Amino acid sequence: MGSRFLVVHNKDGVDWVRLAEIFEKAPFAKRDPPDIQRAFENSYVSCFAYDDATLVGAARATSDGVYYATVFDVVVAVEYQGMGVGRALMGALLENLPFDKIFLTAPPDKQGFYRRFGFYKHNNAMGRYASPEQAFEYGVLSRWEHVASRYFWWSKPSYEPRPGKK
Ligand SMILES: CC(C)(COP(=O)(O)OP(=O)(O)OC[C@H]1O[C@@H](n2cnc3c(N)ncnc32)[C@H](O)[C@@H]1OP(=O)(O)O)[C@@H](O)C(=O)NCCC(=O)NCCS
Repeated sequence: MGSRFLVVHNKDGVDWVRLAEIFEKAPFAKRDPPDIQRAFENSYVSCFAYDDATLVGAARATSDGVYYATVFDVVVAVEYQGMGVGRALMGALLENLPFDKIFLTAPPDKQGFYRRFGFYKHNNAMGRYASPEQAFEYGVLSRWEHVASRYFWWSKPSYEPRPGKK
């Protein structure tokens, strides 16, 4: 079934202030319009969903254009959520990402959405955050000692010597 929403890649004329509002109210993140604009303009694929002339959602991905892509900032205006906009945005994004490996991060309550598009939990991902303390607290990042002892040292050939071993 087709969507009533129009998804375009054209960044000309995007109302970045409206997009910042969509981000904030989704709720997703509080960001400045010029930073959002720069992030979308620097991305490999950007998608914008419209209901007539009203911007109702956006999504973007970065990529090396050969092997890998990473999806970011899939966001739908709160009053349009649950109406197929996210599905239309993801479809338009993935059509333009013909790569072997596509990555993203999502909180547990959004992972079911991405599961519909073929995404699985990623067991060997790592992240480097400028300020990781809050991410440790929320369980988004695991402290290295914890992961290493549970996964790398005992269940896989080790990349680093075990404590006390040469
Ligand atoms: C997550 C989000 C992008 C989904 O967009 P949406 O337009 O509401 O979703 P759609 O209506 O297109 O739903 C498509 C399908 O995914 C399902 N779905 C939507 N949100 C879901 C969720 N959180 N968990 C599981 N399934 C979900 C829908 O039920 C629908 O399933 P169906 O095809 O079987 O009917 C949107 O809710 C949003 O912007 N949330 C706030 C911002 C955010 O958290 N973004 C994600 C950051 S990782």
